[in-house]
Amino acid sequence: MRNNFEMTERDLRQRGGLKWRQYPTDVLPAFVADMDFAVAPAVHDALVSIVDGQQYGYPARTGAGTPDHAVEVFADRMTRLFGWSIMPQDVVVCSDLLQAISATLLSFSTRGDAVIVQQPCYPPFRDAITSNGREFVAIEAKNLETGVVFDLEAVKRSLSPNTRMLFVCNPHNPTGRVFTKAELEGLANIALERDLIIVSDEVHAELILSAKTHIPMATLGPEIARRTVTLCSGAKTFNLAGLKCAFVHFGSAALQETFLTCFPKRVITPGHPFGVQATIAAFLHGQSWLDEVTAHLRQMRDVLTARISEEMPLVRFHPPEGTYMAWLDCSKLQLPTSAFEHFLSKGRVALSAGETFVPGGEAFVRLNFATSAHILNAIIDRMVVASRQ
Ligand SMILES: Cc1ncc(COP(=O)(O)O)c(C=O)c1O
Repeated sequence: MRNNFEMTERDLRQRGGLKWRQYPTDVLPAFVADMDFAVAPAVHDALVSIVDGQQYGYPARTGAGTPDHAVEVFADRMTRLFGWSIMPQDVVVCSDLLQAISATLLSFSTRGDAVIVQQPCYPPFRDAITSNGREFVAIEAKNLETGVVFDLEAVKRSLSPNTRMLFVCNPHNPTGRVFTKAELEGLANIALERDLIIVSDEVHAELILSAKTHIPMATLGPEIARRTVTLCSGAKTFNLAGLKCAFVHFGSAALQETFLTCFPKRVITPGHPFGVQATIAAFLHGQSWLDEVTAHLRQMRDVLTARISEEMPLVRFHPPEGTYMAWLDCSKLQLPTSAFEHFLSKGRVALSAGETFVPGGEAFVRLNFATSAHILNAIIDRMVVASRQ
């Protein structure tokens, strides 16, 4: 049976956006982190009411529907979902995580400083670090039989007198790992010993597909929280990336002061009214939609897992514990070009190129499985045929 939120290929092409407009119409896209789903009805209603009411002037500063309201709702949600009790005054609303990643980087480091990042990594981490004259220090993933892990000894070896920051992405894009408490504590303790600022990107926190629970870095203890800036939003969970509303939580007043000295409030764009009101509606009234979407994502992850093991057994892959991304190691296929190029030219499927997540990662691709069973099966059919060419 089809879920209410699923959309047909025709509707998706009409809806437009980067995912469905980037490539010619004979290509099926499975790249950028958008879901092929209609938004929660409560989100739709909130946006319609802005349009119907022509609320296009300066938005209200206090009360319902404001960024302050969004922060209160966010704080309540984090407490309820993850036992992470946060105070609204410790949160700054900005437009999206890309803005927050660059702004935190610039606030807590200077040119020449080194920043540690888990690799493969979400490409904008690398772009932000290198384009702002910081040194990108990669901690390479170990692709074990049991899953992807990041080696703490490698983190320790990578430390230098210039190391200032540690970027963590949990749940991890692109591998889909949801880190254990022990793994997070291992990283956090290094930050503590070496006085590093931790930036923890937790935008996929609510998209957990395994029995694990998400552990916010800032819940690991007051000493860790004091050096942690957490980035989050409803954009991935509720498919709102174009609307613009994100949260930056500071684990201490000193961190927030440093940030606001670099970026006074009028410099950081606060959430757009559409994004703010959509996020409030999603957080308050979107849970049944999210439960159905999460159940569907688990099914799609399982379809992908079963079909890869039966029909493309040479593709190495760990079923993701979170996110809606699968990180596929195609090295054993021994393709003549990069895996991205091969599946695009031979299969007309647009995946995310592995080399954008890790230099030398041409044999990898990231597949976004947040789509209908019909479209996902068509994507896999095409990949199976292409993998044999
Ligand atoms: C780990 C991670 N961080 C940040 C972002 C970007 O978020 P935003 O659209 O809010 O800039 C994404 C988008 O896919 C992501 O996967």
